[in-house]
Formats: sequence, C-alpha cells, structure tokens
Amino acid sequence: MTRVRFAPSRRLRGEVGAPPDKSISHRAALLAAMSVKPVRISNYLKAADTISTLNALRAVGALVEEHEDFVIVRGTGLREAREPGGPIDVGNAGTLMRLLPGWLAAQEGRIFVLDGDSSIRSRPVDRIAEPLALMGAQIEAKGGRFAPFVVYGTRLHAITYELPVASAQVKSCVLLAGVAADGTTSVVEPVASRDHTERMLAGAGVGVRREGLTVSVSRAGELDMQSLVVPGDLSSAAFMIAAAVLVKGSRLLVRDVGVNWTRSGFLRILERMGAIATGSLEDPSATVALCEPTSDIDVSAGPLVGTVVEPGEVPLAIDELPLVALLGCFAEGDTVVRGAQELRVKESDRIAGVVDGLRGLGATIEATADGFAVTGSGGLRGGVIDARGDHRMAMLGAVAGLASDEGVDVVGMEAAAVSYPGFAQDLSRLLA
Ligand code: S3P
Repeated sequence: MTRVRFAPSRRLRGEVGAPPDKSISHRAALLAAMSVKPVRISNYLKAADTISTLNALRAVGALVEEHEDFVIVRGTGLREAREPGGPIDVGNAGTLMRLLPGWLAAQEGRIFVLDGDSSIRSRPVDRIAEPLALMGAQIEAKGGRFAPFVVYGTRLHAITYELPVASAQVKSCVLLAGVAADGTTSVVEPVASRDHTERMLAGAGVGVRREGLTVSVSRAGELDMQSLVVPGDLSSAAFMIAAAVLVKGSRLLVRDVGVNWTRSGFLRILERMGAIATGSLEDPSATVALCEPTSDIDVSAGPLVGTVVEPGEVPLAIDELPLVALLGCFAEGDTVVRGAQELRVKESDRIAGVVDGLRGLGATIEATADGFAVTGSGGLRGGVIDARGDHRMAMLGAVAGLASDEGVDVVGMEAAAVSYPGFAQDLSRLLA
C-alpha cells in the first residue's frame, strides 16, 4: 500500500480538465454492447472501474477496440449476449455489478456468474435480485445478498417497481431489463437520482417517459445507440473544486464538466455554504433533454458557513458527501447530512470512514444513523488517514492535507486509480 504525504499548500492556480465521467462511461459501453451497430465513444474513462466494464463486455461477446482518445464497441445486439466460459470479474465497480445483470437477465437460457474484489463482495445485490425476479429472471447470490452471484437469463416481462432506496444503479438495472422485456416497465423512485441511463436510452431510440418520480421504458427491438463524447466527471472534479475553495488564494477553472442537474447537487450545496464556484448549471425543468450538458466551473477560495443537506438532495450529491463533511470542518457553524444511510454500502462504509478519518485529523464530527454532523472550527490539524481501499476516501485525505495545518499522510493512495488515475499529476500541476 502506498502512503503519500499531502503537505499544507499555498494555493491552487490554473485550469484543469476533469477526467471523463465514470457513470456515463460505464453506461455508454454497456448500451453500445447491447447495440448491433458499432459505436464510437470519445473521451471514455480509462480507469480501473471502466476498464473492468470493457473486459466484462468482451466476456459476453462484444468486440472492444481501445484507442488513445476513444473506444469502439461492436455489440452483440439486445438479446444475443454470449454465455462466457467463466465468471465475469467486475473488479471494484459497483455500477457494473448492478447494471450489467439488467441486460444479462434478458438472455434466454444463458447463465452468467459475476464476482469482484473484496469490497464488491460486501456490497448488496439483493436490491437488483428482487426486481429481476419479479420480471421472471433468477439470481442466486451468496447468502442471498452478495457476490459471487449467478444470473439465469430468461424471457422477461414488464413490471412497475417501487424502489425501496433511491439508487440510480438499481433504477438503471430495471430499466435495462425493461428494454428487452415484453411490455412497458416503470420504476418509481422515492427521490430523484442521476438520470444518465434514461437520457442515453432515449438517445438510442427507446421509448422513455418521465412523469414526476416515475420513469418508464418500452420494449425495444434493438438499440440504435449513437456515437458520443463523454463529458468531464463532476464527482472527480469535486476534489479539485473543494481544494480550491479551501486553500487560501486559490483560483481554478475546471473545463467541460457534466452539469446534468441530477449530478450537480454538490455545486448547489457549495453555493449555500458561501463558496464561489460558478458555471452554467442545467435547469431542472429542462430534463427531457437527451444530451448531457457541460460547463466550465470557475472556483475561488473563500469563507464558508455550515449547511444542512436534506434527504431529497442526497442522491444528487451522493459521492460528494464526504467532501461536504470536510468543507464543514472549515465552515463557521454546523454542517449536517441527513438521509444518507446509503453511504454505508459504497466502496467502503463512508459514514464510518469519514467520521473516523476526519476525527483522526482533528475534526469535531459525529456519526448519526443516516449521515454525520460536523462542528466547524475554521481549520483542520492534520495527521494520517486510511483510504480503506476506497478511491474517494483517498482523494478526500489528499484535499484535507492541502488545507490542513500540519499535512496529511494518506495510506492507500493508489485507490484513486479506480476513478481518477491522473489525480496526483493534476494536483501537482495546479500547485506548481
Ligand atoms: C452511480 C450511482 C450512485 C453512485 C455511484 C455511481 C451510477 O450509486 O454512488 O458511484 O453510476 O449509477 P447509487 O445509485 O447506488 O446510490
């Protein structure tokens, strides 16, 4: 494991292009594999998670050419995925583990085994097994809940499914199964979550309807997926944005970041905390869009005040909530996150990791049943933080170090390669 020290820094200056969006890269490759025509995906994320997706798709019969700036996926068609010779390895990628079975469940008479790393083996799959079983497929998971698990493909029928938790991964799994099922499949969300799958399916010619918190897809013959350019990942850029907000004298321009409103909750939370991070964000009333809007984000350092993040906002900023806790340490007053119990089943238990990790650096922070509460003190001492094998925890520790009084040693910094392999290089360029 690599232990990397992030010393208190003077300021971040310059421009950075966010790495390609992980969620959109996974979906683009998957929908391309479900298509019959070749699809060119420009700016595909070349990181551990999304390489796992390309390899998983090869295992089920897609041909994938990797070029420097793009990939070409020649798919099998919607109902012609091949049964692989052995288990499909999803690595560390929860999105792959939850989305791929939606497609595989519709492969009549074929059997697929999925497995992954130790983190994946502790993340629940019963949440996709339940709706897929209602559609007629069968999933046998270890202890009923975990990988390795087996998907028995069959002819699926449409359902209307009320999601017990707000999860874009589960919603997407059901929608992908729904495209190949007989009839119209609907998913009802408790609160809105990221809608990349819906946008991309609509762009591929699928009948997609949205009414309030219900999204429905109609049966498709084949997908007509178009070539696309993946936008920058706001969830990765968020680490640079937070660093620029916290380190005095900083001024940063993040180029071409995806600002789909179902992903940009973090920027709205930042605004409430008094940070200056401006861009042209998407208006929620415009979400019939097929495309993924992008913007540059201009960020300056400045004083912060605490805020309360309510449950309805949580899915719109789910991966950035650890950064909200860090920002809360530097804010005046209390910062509270509610309704975020899903953080317990991410790449690590992010409530425990954030609370123990930041407390170890000098923060006043408490875990609650569904989130955390931070009392800001205007700064952070520093120390050592364990990434717990979680990419976002590693990058959180790095940003904490830059803004701290004494610096932070991050144990397990290599985890950042799961979503942002160029993180350390980008940071050192901005600090130079
Ligand atoms: C993702 C959805 C979120 C997020 C994850 C990626 C996606 O998970 O935390 O990093 O690409 O759909 P849930 O929807 O399960 O909360």
